[in-house]
Amino acid sequence: MDDLRDKYLGAVSGASDEAALEDIRLQAVGKKGEVALKMRELGKMTPEERKLMGPKLNALKDEITSALAAKKAALEDVALEERLQSEWLDVTLPGRSRGKGSIHPVSQVSEEIYAIFADLGFAVAEGPQVESDWYNFDSLNIPPHHPARQEFDTFYMHRAADDERAPHVLRTHTSPVQIRAMEAQGAPIRVIAPGRVYRCDYDQTHTPMFHQVEGMAIGKDISMANLKWVLEEFFHAFFGIKVKTRFRASHFPFTEPSAEVDIQCSWVDGQLRIGEGDGWMEVLGSGMMHPKVLKAGGIDPDQYQGFAFGIGIDRLAMLKYGIPDLRAFFDSDLRWLRHYGFASLDMPTLHGGLSK
Ligand code: PHE
Repeated sequence: MDDLRDKYLGAVSGASDEAALEDIRLQAVGKKGEVALKMRELGKMTPEERKLMGPKLNALKDEITSALAAKKAALEDVALEERLQSEWLDVTLPGRSRGKGSIHPVSQVSEEIYAIFADLGFAVAEGPQVESDWYNFDSLNIPPHHPARQEFDTFYMHRAADDERAPHVLRTHTSPVQIRAMEAQGAPIRVIAPGRVYRCDYDQTHTPMFHQVEGMAIGKDISMANLKWVLEEFFHAFFGIKVKTRFRASHFPFTEPSAEVDIQCSWVDGQLRIGEGDGWMEVLGSGMMHPKVLKAGGIDPDQYQGFAFGIGIDRLAMLKYGIPDLRAFFDSDLRWLRHYGFASLDMPTLHGGLSK
């Protein structure tokens, strides 16, 4: 009995992992282990011997079992301690910050424009940036050799040398979407068409690519008065103050009569202020749609009239947010984007206010 005890308690204390402990348990106190074999021998003993040996064997079994349990717990403690050492991490280290993007002023202002015109009942229409000669010019009453074609500084797409057809162009304005929207939806119709336009021009207020939003409303009794009301309503919502407008007679081939529209402003210490003073800033072209344009869009000009306007989105962004140079809009300079960009959750809505 003492030999058994020494043998197994020694083995338990020398075991280095749980697998070794399990082997010892099976050999010692398992169903076919040495202690069990000894217990089986009890049957052959005299009652006196059995009375003596039974409790001793039970005590031995208990002793080995509890030694096993104690050793198991000790091994687990060591393992845990090792893990705690190796998995240690410094919770006082500053977190790794993720680069956060910002909303470009052109996107922000576009969203503001959509919100305001949606409120006025205008849907959004779109057209391609590579446009046919017909949609960009002819359908808008700008035939070949019309002087307005030169004014646009158009980018032409390539045509094969033996191809006689007029080349496609990078659209010079969003007005071709007037025709596409009329074809797609007929009259009456109220849409805005925002998007990129292209002209070969580059200085502080001009870039070869810029953004316009076209507006168009066609109905049976649409007049210049509706145009003026819509535009003034728009400026009021956009700038957050009442802004006086000035309609100057102008000329566009696709509108008759045509007007360029200025908004009231002043310069105070080199800073532009909208809606005060006695200066004027040109912001858009507009007019009553030319009958030929309505016809080109498949609408009968004897039954319907419409107004149209085209606003420079980038120009509006510069005015509203005091951004002096248009070229920086498209330089992708991170410092500029962080300074003039908007937080991604700061999306404009009419009910929430347009800007913070
Ligand atoms: N398409 C004109 C431009 O780009 C603007 C305009 C649009 C004028 C609609 C009148 C009507 O200059």
